Amino acid sequence: MTTVVLLAGSPGERSRSTTLLQRAGALLASYGVVTQTFGLTDFPSDDLIYARWDSPAIRRFTETLAAADGLVVATPVYKAAYSGALKAVLDLLPERALEQKAALALATGGSPGHLLAVDYALQPVLSALKARHIVGGVYATDRDFNPQDDGSYQVTEEIDSRLHHAVGRLIAHLPNPGSVQLHPEELSRQVAAARISI
Ligand SMILES: Cc1cc2nc3c(=O)[nH]c(=O)nc-3n(C[C@H](O)[C@H](O)[C@H](O)COP(=O)(O)O)c2cc1C
Repeated sequence: MTTVVLLAGSPGERSRSTTLLQRAGALLASYGVVTQTFGLTDFPSDDLIYARWDSPAIRRFTETLAAADGLVVATPVYKAAYSGALKAVLDLLPERALEQKAALALATGGSPGHLLAVDYALQPVLSALKARHIVGGVYATDRDFNPQDDGSYQVTEEIDSRLHHAVGRLIAHLPNPGSVQLHPEELSRQVAAARISI
């Protein structure tokens, strides 16, 4: 079984970055990858403020991640970086928590100005956690999201296409792609397309 943990770093109940995460999760599921989602509300604030490494919530997260093949993390851009609450969660992970795992970062910001926030802020953290491979992420601005009547967001086709490519790259770099139900030709096509789009 191939498993990927999804971590949502926005405190918003109605969140654009979490929308990207959910879409990535749906794409992974369509390839037979089992996903498990964590959000900020899964962690009691006291655990984060007092850095309770061994609290039940943090242990559940670290143990789930330890057993997974990859991590997808999504965050809003806050003050030119990722959300502080997300950092508080990542700070409680063991030193080599992403060793042997592939990672993908997704981010949303109010403007394209902080497009590189993922590269200069979040990716170094994933590297510090010893991610085996960090695939090129996806950055979307608020204009890429269309609010729906039910309160959800729909992403533009362009962003959806970028997510497809990013998820394809993640799958290609998972250390244990054994149960991924993706035809090898389709996988090659996605990886090739992703290379061309870089
Ligand atoms: C406290 C705060 C700080 C923000 N700082 C930035 C910023 O520095 N650059 C930017 O492009 N957008 C910034 N934004 C806008 C959010 O990144 C943007 O609306 C994002 O899509 C929100 O994601 P969410 O819906 O998942 O919470 C900020 C928003 C908030 C609430």
